[in-house]
Amino acid sequence: MNNRLLKAALKDLPMGGLRYLERVGSTNDVALAWAADGAADFSLVVSDEQTAGRGRGGRRWYTPPGTALAFSLILRPRSVEHEKAALFSALGAVAVVEALGQRALQAEIKWPNDVLLRRRKVCGVLTETVWVGDQIDSLVIGVGVNVASSSVPPAEQLTFPATCLEVEAGQEVDRLSLLHDILFALSRWRPRLGTSAFQDAWERRLAFRGETVQVWAEGRPPCSGQIAGLGQDGSLLLRSSAQEILSFPFGEVHLRPVV
Ligand code: BTN
Repeated sequence: MNNRLLKAALKDLPMGGLRYLERVGSTNDVALAWAADGAADFSLVVSDEQTAGRGRGGRRWYTPPGTALAFSLILRPRSVEHEKAALFSALGAVAVVEALGQRALQAEIKWPNDVLLRRRKVCGVLTETVWVGDQIDSLVIGVGVNVASSSVPPAEQLTFPATCLEVEAGQEVDRLSLLHDILFALSRWRPRLGTSAFQDAWERRLAFRGETVQVWAEGRPPCSGQIAGLGQDGSLLLRSSAQEILSFPFGEVHLRPVV
C-alpha cells in the first residue's frame, strides 16, 4: 500500500481529502484532529500500521504492518442526519458486510457493529464524534479489518473469538479493492440511513438471531434472552424467558452467545 496506489484505487469515489500514513498511532486520532481542523466531508485517513489502535471500551486494536485494513472516514453530518448519528457505526458495519458479500463471504453483524465470519470477529468499528457546543460538528468512523492471519491478536488477548479474511476466503485479499468497496457501499447506504431498507439490511445480517445471548449494558444488571431483532431506532430487542421484550439502546453494551 502506498499513497499513489491508494489514490488510484479510490479515484471514482467522492473523496473530500485523503491522507495515507505508513505508520501511525491511531488513524482515528489523526482523523479527529483533521476534522477539528476543518477536513471536508468524506475525507479519509488510511494507515498500513497502527501502534496505538483503539477499540471500543478503551480496548487496544492490533494493526501490525501490511496485514490489515485500518482507516478512519470523516463525515460532516448534514442537518437531517444529526438525529441519526447513533446509526453511523452500523452504517460502517453494513458497508463492510456488503463488501465482503461481493467476495462470497457471508458476514454477520454482532450488534451493534462487530462484523463476524463463522461467528468470529473479523472487523470492528469505532465511531467518535467532534462536538461544537451541543452540536455534532463531525463524525469519524474508524474501521479495522483483519486481512492476513498475522493481524489476528494472540488468543490470550482476545475477549471474543477472532479470524481474518484470508483464512476465511482461502485466498489473498486485496486491501485497496476492499477499501474501495466498503467506501462505495457506505456512500450508497448513507442517504438511506434510518430508512426501513437500511434497517432490513442490518437486521437480515444480525448475528445470533433467535439464539440466547447474555448482555452486559452499562448501568443495568447483566441479563440474557433471545435476540428478537432491532427496534426502529436500531436498539437491540431481546425476548426474556418471561416473554418480555427488553430494549437496549446504543451505548457500552457487550453481547455473547450462551453456549
Ligand atoms: C472495536 O471492535 O473495538 C472497534 C475497533 C476499531 C478499530 C479501528 S482501526 C482504524 C481506527 N483507528 C483506531 O484506532 N481504531 C479504529
